[in-house]
Amino acid sequence: MKKITLLFVVAFVCVFSTGDLFAKGKVKVDKALEHAARQYLYMRDELKGTNQFPKTYDKHMQRLKTSNSKWWCSGFYPGTLFYLYEETGNEELYTEGVRMLKLLEPEQYNVNTHDVGFMMYCSYGNANRIAPQSGYKDIMANSARSLITRFSPVVGCIKSHNRGSDDYVVIIDNMMNLELLFWAAQATGDSTFYDIAVKHADTTLKNHFRADNSLYHGLNYNPKTGTIKHYQGGQGFSEKSAWARGQAWGLYGYTMMYRFTKKPEYLEQAIKIAEFVLNHPNMPKDLIPYWDYNAPDIPDALRDASAAAINCSGLLELSQYVSGDKAEKYYKAAEKMLQTLSSPVYTAEVGTNGGFILKHSVGNIPSGTEVDVPLTYADYYYVEALCRYKSLVDKP
Ligand code: GLY
Repeated sequence: MKKITLLFVVAFVCVFSTGDLFAKGKVKVDKALEHAARQYLYMRDELKGTNQFPKTYDKHMQRLKTSNSKWWCSGFYPGTLFYLYEETGNEELYTEGVRMLKLLEPEQYNVNTHDVGFMMYCSYGNANRIAPQSGYKDIMANSARSLITRFSPVVGCIKSHNRGSDDYVVIIDNMMNLELLFWAAQATGDSTFYDIAVKHADTTLKNHFRADNSLYHGLNYNPKTGTIKHYQGGQGFSEKSAWARGQAWGLYGYTMMYRFTKKPEYLEQAIKIAEFVLNHPNMPKDLIPYWDYNAPDIPDALRDASAAAINCSGLLELSQYVSGDKAEKYYKAAEKMLQTLSSPVYTAEVGTNGGFILKHSVGNIPSGTEVDVPLTYADYYYVEALCRYKSLVDKP
């Protein structure tokens, strides 16, 4: 994994040393990272003595909402702490990240969710990248083994949600969990992990996309035949709409697939999603999308900072795999997203917002949960995007 990260950084530097197109950073990235680090130390203090993971903040009750390690988002807080430690050198952030890893350890055997990829890779993956340890590697390899217990060769996908015995629900978010499998293939030498990741991505590419390159949140397959039973609106407005975070998971997911496989069809798909979202008539000028591109109450619909943060980090990577106008377009769009997200409209003041960095994300409007709130994954992908951006503008 270290090698892959190094290659990624080298690729960044190589592309960007060929011209000065992107040389001037418009985002005050060091200031944004310092601010984020101070805010996460405040969150650490708020969590003290709980052994819980941050989930969101209830601004009406002025209360931090927390979860145990089983919540799908449990890996994002430690992951963000590790990114912030890398950028600021503040050891307190690292110590808090390691404390959370210990609490996450039992999830390596969690076979009940596809989200074990998010949980264990965003956390242990970053810890292991910074300071590799054989204990971390064992935990991540076990986590990858847990994840592939959910793969069906009949469907050609890892199952996302456990429903009835006649259901096999696969959601686009699942693409993000494949990164753990690529790490495991390399670390263990077992190509099964690689093959399952590729098969899942191929099946998703075949079935999840519409003619206009938007995508469904979920599909329910017949587990016995692998045929599609029906499409699901999931967390989006309807099964025909384009849920903003779903499009973002797809954009980031297929860009990541291209990083590991170099298969042109994955790059093409990532570009198609990027073009869909960036050219969408309902995409606001500040590039923070409404929670669904087809939300019925646009322009009064809520924005989703988490979708913007995921798009932003994905586009920074994608800008490295294309050239010319597209490279410039994706980079500039990501830069605009970072400018908006780091403004006071979206970035909370230190000591407020329960310690979360960003405000105004949308978890799940159809179920009425986490509506216009801070969320750990918005913070994680925002900080990751700041790190990626910094590695581009700080080049000698
Ligand atoms: N993976 C669930 C979500 O994006 O809300």
